[in-house]
Amino acid sequence: MATIPAVKQFSDRMGRIEVSATMAVVAEAAKLKAAGADMVEFGAGEPHFPTPQHIKDAAIAKRHGADFGSDYKPEETVVSTGGKLSLFNAIQVLVDHGDEVILPVPYWVSFKDIIEYAGGKCVYVRTSEADGFRLTSDMIERQITSRTRAIVINSPNNPSGAVISPEDHTAILKLAHKRGIYVIADECYVYLNFSGHDFSAGSVTEAREHIVVVGSLSKTYSMTGWRLGYTLAPLPVSNAIAKLQSQNTSSTAHMIQKAAVAAVTGPQECVAQMKAEYIQLRDQILGELAKIPDITCVRPEGAFYVYPNVSAYIGRAGIKSAADIAHRLLHEAHVVTVPGEAFGTTEHIRLSYATSPGEIKRGLERMREWFAKLG
Ligand SMILES: Cc1ncc(COP(=O)(O)O)c(C=O)c1O
Repeated sequence: MATIPAVKQFSDRMGRIEVSATMAVVAEAAKLKAAGADMVEFGAGEPHFPTPQHIKDAAIAKRHGADFGSDYKPEETVVSTGGKLSLFNAIQVLVDHGDEVILPVPYWVSFKDIIEYAGGKCVYVRTSEADGFRLTSDMIERQITSRTRAIVINSPNNPSGAVISPEDHTAILKLAHKRGIYVIADECYVYLNFSGHDFSAGSVTEAREHIVVVGSLSKTYSMTGWRLGYTLAPLPVSNAIAKLQSQNTSSTAHMIQKAAVAAVTGPQECVAQMKAEYIQLRDQILGELAKIPDITCVRPEGAFYVYPNVSAYIGRAGIKSAADIAHRLLHEAHVVTVPGEAFGTTEHIRLSYATSPGEIKRGLERMREWFAKLG
């Protein structure tokens, strides 16, 4: 009988090395410990201290500086349990009862509530759909009064995907600085900017005294459930945010902070890969939407949402609003969308395309059939 040649399982190089002696001791000790032995730990060369806070903050500040040319110091960085809490903390610290806060429309759903919870009054700036929901500094300037305390900007924008041009962005920041008004720049989608002009408010260092950058790992590294966000802000603002946080959550969990350090200091190719995929998904969903008669859609330049205008269907088949459309799509077509009313407009629905090409195809086919039935 022919002998079967031994199949080599691993590369030759694996035969040239031994398991690390220290790791082996640690593994052996772990087995004894698991079996109930009371061990005294002198084995691994691993500090027993938790990673000091300033190192985690430094990692975030360094990443931001390298990517966007900002100059935040570790003590100007506050890490929180998600971007939403970072934003909430910043607004709680800056906005008092009766203060006006300028909020461009469409806006991310929580801005309005967080501002109003702080006692602030939202002063809306309506961007024009015909102009791609573009925000300019003139639009902001027209709304400034003696009571204006802050301006909340969000580029790339949720829900429209609009990106503020670097020129307008800089002009808004300089204008606010000159008038002593804070700009809270929600940059949760800053790494999902498809315009070719990556930009963070933090790079406008001459206005830094009045800028609070809010960031998050949720979208950048697909870490939503890990809950890690941060603010980059001048020291007095950061100190105030840290003070508030010392009374609400203390900090985000230590293992999550370690994961965050790994995310921001490790290889960044995943970020570019995900961005490239989102661009393809955007193009796919725009192509599918274009097949539905009478629906128009601004081409998003970032984030992962499309915000189609469905107003042509309002008035047909008993439909009274975008909310009706979203509600009926949910119950009759089993397609989940969010009505524009949540974002301050009445003619749109929002679709997140952070999903697979197959799901986009399936969902948009259902939508096409459903809209066709409305006539
Ligand atoms: C504009 C914007 N800001 C903040 C957040 C909050 O992100 P997280 O709390 O997951 O960091 C989101 C999440 O959807 C968002 O769209």
